Amino acid sequence: MSTVEKEIRKRTVGSSSSPNYGIGRGSSIIGWGSSLPDLVVTNADFEQRLDTTDEWITERTGIKERRWGGTTCSLATAAARSAMEMGGITADQLDLVILSTATSDQTVPATSALIAGELGYSCGTFDLDAACAGFTYAFVVGHSMLQSGLNNVLIIGCDTLSNIIDKQDRSTAVLFADGAGALLIQATTGESCLRGWDLGIDTSALHLLWCEKQGFITMEGKEVFRKAVRATIESANSALEQSKLTSSDIALFVPHQANKRIIDAAAQRLNIPEDRLAIVLDRTGNTSSASIPLALCEAADQGRISKGDNVLLAGFGAGMTWASMVVRWGK
Ligand code: UT7
Repeated sequence: MSTVEKEIRKRTVGSSSSPNYGIGRGSSIIGWGSSLPDLVVTNADFEQRLDTTDEWITERTGIKERRWGGTTCSLATAAARSAMEMGGITADQLDLVILSTATSDQTVPATSALIAGELGYSCGTFDLDAACAGFTYAFVVGHSMLQSGLNNVLIIGCDTLSNIIDKQDRSTAVLFADGAGALLIQATTGESCLRGWDLGIDTSALHLLWCEKQGFITMEGKEVFRKAVRATIESANSALEQSKLTSSDIALFVPHQANKRIIDAAAQRLNIPEDRLAIVLDRTGNTSSASIPLALCEAADQGRISKGDNVLLAGFGAGMTWASMVVRWGK
């Protein structure tokens, strides 16, 4: 085995990560967009009908309000359209579209097929499900296809979790919500925008977060919390290592938006200060696949990141899947 092969093997034991990334074609993020339903559900709304309080929800989760409504197709289409407009790319110029979702509108066909009908593209398209960590999984897969020769790849993260929660169950109803976010990546002659990544799963957590077909989400919150903090830190550190960067090189940390206490614990251990955190959780709740792109798009729209900045994304979800990556911001 060559030294390079040994190094690759060493790095990939226990999870998939990104040996020798950045070799090959260059890439750049050229567009982004997001979409939320109109209906705002506040903590005060829950106080009216469940045995809960604004104080409990705010202190335990950091969530103040969330959005419910729309279909996965409609929200994803709106986010994708914004990303395409910003990137100046028409439907016929797309080479691949991946939708990360755990809440497809129907079992067959994939929701990405419906989005193709709405946007009018005919390139390859498919749904990918890695729960709340799915957006980063989709980005890594889409980016590898770009490195294999495609020119324009659209990655969408969208979930409509309001359809799979028992709205009378205070332990989940206050947490989960709906939304979508999208990134458009294009092949370039420059450097790769994906500097390093880390994907994996811990099946000892399989039973902790579950939803039967046509059923509702059940969750052992405390245990998910404990494993989520560890997974986020370890995966983020692995992606940083793959990128040959440290947290001081990171302009913005965009964690999965599930609980502000998980985010704070992870950020603290990663040595990332509050002013380099992207948070939308207080206004969106946990939107699963949409949570990272929603927070990233808002930060980008607010001018918090500039071309060339290193952005660390780190997510975890049912499974327990995890996924982190460092991207060089574009546009
Ligand atoms: O993206 C998917 C991944 N999901 C997550 O990351 C979620 C991770 N877990 C969490 O965010 C937290 O564990 C929760 C927010 C779900 C719960 O917070 P906690 O501090 O772990 O509370 P707990 O589950 O230990 O519950 C404490 C108490 C319980 O009452 P008792 O048994 O002590 O009498 C719950 O029944 O809080 C009660 N409780 C509530 N009380 C008021 C649970 N939900 C509520 C509620 N309002 N909405």
